[in-house]
Amino acid sequence: MTGKTILTGVKPTGAPHIGNYIGAIRPALQLAATHKKSYLFIADYHALNAVHDPQALRQDSYQVAACWLSLGLDPERTVFYRQSDVPEIFELTTLLSAVTPKGLMDRSHAYKAVVDKNTSEGRDADADVNMGLYTYPILMAADILMAQTDIVPVGKDQVQHIEFARDMAGYFNNTFKPVFKLPEYQLEKGGALLPGIDGRKMSKSYNNHIPVFMDTPARKKLVMKIVTDSKLPAEPKNPDDNIIFQIYAHMASVDEVASMREAFEKGGLGYGDAKQALFQVLEREFERPTQLYNEYMANPARIDELLEKGAEQARIIARNTLSMARMAAGLKPLL
Ligand code: ADP
Ligand code: TRP
Repeated sequence: MTGKTILTGVKPTGAPHIGNYIGAIRPALQLAATHKKSYLFIADYHALNAVHDPQALRQDSYQVAACWLSLGLDPERTVFYRQSDVPEIFELTTLLSAVTPKGLMDRSHAYKAVVDKNTSEGRDADADVNMGLYTYPILMAADILMAQTDIVPVGKDQVQHIEFARDMAGYFNNTFKPVFKLPEYQLEKGGALLPGIDGRKMSKSYNNHIPVFMDTPARKKLVMKIVTDSKLPAEPKNPDDNIIFQIYAHMASVDEVASMREAFEKGGLGYGDAKQALFQVLEREFERPTQLYNEYMANPARIDELLEKGAEQARIIARNTLSMARMAAGLKPLL
């Protein structure tokens, strides 16, 4: 257990698959369990830059909340909230904007990627770029800095955002006086990418994914669809180029994995039986969370209640930080 504060935001993007679980959700839950102070929030204002369907935004936010809660996030230990329930974040965004050079935003990878795409397609460079996308890193810095965060666990694509948040904290502290802690990123180990049922990287965009939340018959059907070669059960097989084993290796216990490896290498384990074993560990891991998920989704008032409680806690530190920042800049403290 370390005394450092960790914080992560998740964009509401629909139901997760087991690749998301292994690569992002499970490591974040483990980090939350080993840090004294942890914050996890639903970045709905960030999502709003791209999602302009109110019903979809609302539904996706519930989904992502239900997902984390049913997979083991403990709202008693981790401050769990909706970004949009913490208005201090938005005021802090304005304060940070006053010390953030425009050039920093121009260098943002996310913004530059859209500009490059537009340019290569012969469109106006800023086509479809709203100010929310352009200043996305400032809002993200406010998310992080308001909680006096030490560590932000992120995937590679988010590293620049954390560096920017550090830069903005530095600009503010140097211009006025030290108010913000300088956050650091911690790269999600992940490394190993889970293959999908066709062997390519598991991804919603390839439609080769196994959702985390599904009923038993549907889960079984999907596992049975995993692509294999035509080796007979008796033949020895290389577990490392076998999709069933690669998924199993991330889900089963060390002993279970070792014994499936041995059975494949020796020969005697057929793909049908291996799929059955994989189905069973998926069922063991996700049957109960699926039930919980369905219960939460049937009771959004319960989700609201938990998130509102989390927001109340988040607002305590947010108000404190914001008040210090206001005073440092020559404004009145928060009332
Ligand atoms: P998708 O490719 O299905 O759209 P995302 O890009 O939204 O998934 O991924 C969200 C997070 O889930 C990523 O940051 C990554 O850490 C993790 N992730 C996604 N796909 C995989 C995978 N196949 N194996 C391991 N982790 C993954
Ligand atoms: N930008 C992050 C993403 O796309 C989500 C996010 C918003 C976030 N605010 C954050 C992540 C603060 C970490 C810390 O995944």
